Amino acid sequence: SSPSKVEDVGPMMEFSRPKLVPIHGIPIVSYFAENWDNVKVFQARPDDLLLATFPKAVFLFLSYPLILLNEGTDDRIPCEPTTTRRMIAYMCIPPPPTPGTEQLSQMDSPRVIKTHLPFQLVPKSFWEQDCKVRKQVIYMARNAKDNAVSYYHFGRMNKLDPEPGTWPQFLGKFIAGNVTFGSWFDHVKGWWDKKDSHRILYLFYEDLKEDLRREIHKLMAFLEKDLEEEVVDKIVHHTSFEVMKENPMANYTSMPSVFLDQKVSPFMRKGTVGDWKNYFTVAQSEMFDKVYREKMAGTKLTFRTQI
Ligand code: A3P
Repeated sequence: SSPSKVEDVGPMMEFSRPKLVPIHGIPIVSYFAENWDNVKVFQARPDDLLLATFPKAVFLFLSYPLILLNEGTDDRIPCEPTTTRRMIAYMCIPPPPTPGTEQLSQMDSPRVIKTHLPFQLVPKSFWEQDCKVRKQVIYMARNAKDNAVSYYHFGRMNKLDPEPGTWPQFLGKFIAGNVTFGSWFDHVKGWWDKKDSHRILYLFYEDLKEDLRREIHKLMAFLEKDLEEEVVDKIVHHTSFEVMKENPMANYTSMPSVFLDQKVSPFMRKGTVGDWKNYFTVAQSEMFDKVYREKMAGTKLTFRTQI
């Protein structure tokens, strides 16, 4: 693809969309792959909170509740980008010049760390601590069809990912696991299979959309944190799609348009369950269901594609 013109970022004057490079068999964008050695040796701290998802299963949705639960105070609802950047960072993204690993090493504890890595690629230090040490990992999954549609639109606007192509082309890549961070099927199953042997809370986007308050209480129980009901009210308010869409911290409008082009598709796009029906043809849906049955055979993990 042709290089994008940059007006508002300094040294990265021009860049092309990155290629996917396999890391232990998982396709990952080249700039992240270049930082892989630092991810491998990343040092977890005992009070880290790790939030893992396949891309587009909604990081931000959980970010507020997690910051608040981790900080244990209600005066930290982040409304401007720097606040959250200080407390939350991706382990692998964002792109150069400052890799997430470096940002995280400079961050005060307690840290909330986001990752899209499949279970088997999470740095060992997260699991190596003494079992008495608090180890907190939240995994959030979203049904495959909505996840695919959301990922397609994100690929159109996000120049830090390879070109998605047309919707049918992207769907083919999604099914084949030829998208950044690989196969949705392997990702959701991989984390699911480890949830009982590790301290992992497995959540579903559809459940949060159905009853956010209930899910926040689940989080509170898991993290053994008690919050006043008024604080829960605030979290529910600030986490709603409508409020988050207007929040400059959450809507990524601070990100240069050369990376995220919100004119192509807004970052906070629809935030619903069942939008896949607007994109999948009947034939695509039937084909997908068949593949789904094959790939998900033998797992007890189930999803809702509507609520
Ligand atoms: P859609 O493209 O379906 O709208 P991520 O944060 O992992 O990149 O996921 C982004 C997706 O989560 C987008 O999905 C976005 O709209 C949705 N999203 C973000 N915040 C949300 C919220 N507070 N409530 C519901 N959906 C939200």
